[in-house]
Amino acid sequence: MLNKVSWSLLLLSALLVAAYAFTNLALPGLRQPFVAELFQKTPWAIGLHMLGGLVAIVTGAFQVNARLRARRIELHRLLGRVYVIAVLVGGVAGLVLSFSSFGGPVTHAGFGLMAVLWLVSTGMAYHRIRQRDVAAHRAWMLRSYALTLAAVTLRIYLGLSQVVGMDFAAAYPAIAWLCWVPNLILVEWVLLRRVLPLPNHARG
Ligand code: HEM
Repeated sequence: MLNKVSWSLLLLSALLVAAYAFTNLALPGLRQPFVAELFQKTPWAIGLHMLGGLVAIVTGAFQVNARLRARRIELHRLLGRVYVIAVLVGGVAGLVLSFSSFGGPVTHAGFGLMAVLWLVSTGMAYHRIRQRDVAAHRAWMLRSYALTLAAVTLRIYLGLSQVVGMDFAAAYPAIAWLCWVPNLILVEWVLLRRVLPLPNHARG
């Protein structure tokens, strides 16, 4: 589904966010005050969240590569198990963090619902492949990885909100929803187009 260029861009953005999380985990001296505070308040939750999140975002990038899947199915199965465990760890920790996230109830609800949907979509993807239902497994996996990529879109929107001079406290609760709702809508649109192909005259 993805061509080489878009997959390379996806992998690059996944690696950048993973490198950011890894730096925060491994080099406490480089943490920004906001992150240092998270490590003081909830060290286990933020530590496990970053670890699970970085493993999920990198392994997931390889899982959505169709060529790799076709050529190395045993690697796909192995990385798939690693991805599920990483989401389980990162998602439960993300849910814990959502209750004390910055910005009040709107932020808590945005991140909390995202964490629940991340866990449910990944659980469904696993359940469907155990039932040998490849089409449903793919659909759930796409939903799951669209949520994983919220870690990228969140940082893009945060950067943009700062560039246009928005107040951080006002922007953050909106971004807690914006970082994942459009991702899921895009995936549903892609899935619907596959199930209901466009008639010839409507194709570009
Ligand atoms: C998709 C489900 C995810 C949810 C629900 C989620 C939720 C959260 C929450 C609630 C926080 C604390 C924010 C605050 O206190 O205001 C946080 C921080 C963080 N998350 Fe996630 N997260 C998710 C995915 C990921 C992924 C895939 C990564 C990739 C590595 C990641 C990396 C981080 C990092 C590095 C922080 C530290 C704060 C920062 O520097 O922005 N998260 N996350």
